[in-house]
Amino acid sequence: MELLKLDLGKAFAKASGFISPDVFETYKSATEEMNAALHNKTGRGSDFLGWVNLPNEISDSFIQDIEDTASKIRSKNIDIYVVIGIGGSYLGAKAVIDALNNNFSHLRGDKPAILFAGQNISEDYLAELRDLLQTKEWAICVISKSGTTTEPALAFRVLKQDLEEKYGKQEAVSRICAITDASKGALKTLATEEGYKTYVIPDNVGGRYSVLTPVGLIAIAVAGFDIRALINGAKDMAFATRREVKFEDNIACQYAAARHILYSEGKKIEILVNFQPKLHFMAEWWKQLYGESEGKDGKGIFPASVDFSSDLHSMGQYIQEGERILFETVLSVKKTEREVIIPEDKGNLDKLNFLAGKNVDYVNKMAELGTQIAHVDGDVPNIRIEIERLDEYNIGQLIYFFEKACGISGYLINVNPFDQPGVEAYKKNMFALLEKPGFETETQMLKGRIWKVPVV
Ligand code: PA5
Repeated sequence: MELLKLDLGKAFAKASGFISPDVFETYKSATEEMNAALHNKTGRGSDFLGWVNLPNEISDSFIQDIEDTASKIRSKNIDIYVVIGIGGSYLGAKAVIDALNNNFSHLRGDKPAILFAGQNISEDYLAELRDLLQTKEWAICVISKSGTTTEPALAFRVLKQDLEEKYGKQEAVSRICAITDASKGALKTLATEEGYKTYVIPDNVGGRYSVLTPVGLIAIAVAGFDIRALINGAKDMAFATRREVKFEDNIACQYAAARHILYSEGKKIEILVNFQPKLHFMAEWWKQLYGESEGKDGKGIFPASVDFSSDLHSMGQYIQEGERILFETVLSVKKTEREVIIPEDKGNLDKLNFLAGKNVDYVNKMAELGTQIAHVDGDVPNIRIEIERLDEYNIGQLIYFFEKACGISGYLINVNPFDQPGVEAYKKNMFALLEKPGFETETQMLKGRIWKVPVV
C-alpha cells in the first residue's frame, strides 16, 4: 500500500520568505528530539499522549465491539443517526464520513444519514432538525469528554425527550449510545443511571486527537465505513513516523520543520487547500487540531482553509496578491473513484472541444498545478501532500500524519500542544450573562461592562 507523499519542493523555491535548504537541515535534531519526546512522554502535556500509540493499541476485540454496536444500531433500520458533540467530539467523525461518503448521499436517501447536533446553539438548526426527525426513524450518539459542555448537553436534553416521546423510555434507551469520561461528568452519571450503552474516551487522549477512539469510530462504523482499514492506515503512518525514523525519511518531522521555518519567515497563516469538496471538513478538523494546539502564549500559525477551484473565484485574489503572510498546504488526491469523460460538442460554442475525450480530473489536476505555479510566483510557498485516493486506509494515514506533525510543531514553538485554556474565556462570560448559579460576581462585572448603544 502506498504511503502519502509530502512534497516540499515548492516551499524551497525562492530565496526570501521561502525555506532555505541549509536552514531546513538545522531542524533535523530538534524535530527528531521532539518526536522522541512525544514517544517518551518527556515534553509538555505528556498526560495527553495516548494518541501516539493508539492505532497499535486498539485490540481486535475492541474493534469487534464497536462493529457490533454499529450493526445493532443499523439493524433498527434508522434513517438518521444524530451525533451530538462539539469540537473534538464532532469534527473528526464529520471529516472522515464526508471524505468517504457520496457527495449527494443525503439526497440519494442512503441510510442512515449521519447528522450532527450540539455543534452550535442555533435555535433554528435544532428546531428544523426536530421537525425532520418527527417523520424519521432515528437514534442518538451523544459525545462529550468532559460531560459538561453546554452546547451538546443542551441539544441532548431536547433530543432525548423527543426520542423518549417517540419510542417510549425503554426503546429510547436502546437507541442512545453515550461516549464520555470513564468516571466523571454529568453525562457519565446520566448514562449510568439510564443504562445507555457507553464507551469511554481515554483520559490521556484530548478531544481533537480522539477521532480514532469511539468518539469517531462509532459514527464512522454506523455510517457503514471500514474502521479496520482506517485504523490500519493510521498504524502504517505511525510506523512511518515513529521515533526511530530519521528526519530524512520522517515526513511528520519534515512537515513540522517546514511550517515552522515559514512561520519564522513571517508566514503567519497556513491555508489548507483541497480540490475535492469531500475534504472540506477534513480541513475543519485540521483547523481545530492546529489552531487549538498551537494558538497560545501569543504564538502560533493561524490555520485557514479554502476549497478550490470554487474559492479561486473568491479568495484566490487575496492569495495571489494580498498581504504576503501566507503559505499553502495543498491536499491532493491522486486517483478519483469515478470517471467523467468530456464529450465532443458539434457547435463548440464554449470552445472546449480541445478537451474532448479527457477526464474531468485531468482539468482539475491542471488547475491544481497552474494554481501552485501562480501562487509560488506570487510569493506564497507551497507544500503539497498527495494521498492515493479517498478511502479509509488513506484517510487513516492522513489523520495520524497531521496529529504527529502537530505535536512536533507545538513543541517547536514551545507551547503545550495538548491543552486549550483559551476556550474557557467565552464559557465564563456566557455563563455569567446567562446568570448561571455560581457566576454571580462575574454577572455583575459583565453587566457593568456592557456597552450602551446610543439611540439616534
Ligand atoms: O479538543 C478539545 O478538547 C475540545 O475541542 C473539545 O473536544 C470540545 O470542547 C468538546 O469538549 P467535550 O468533549 O468535553 O464536550
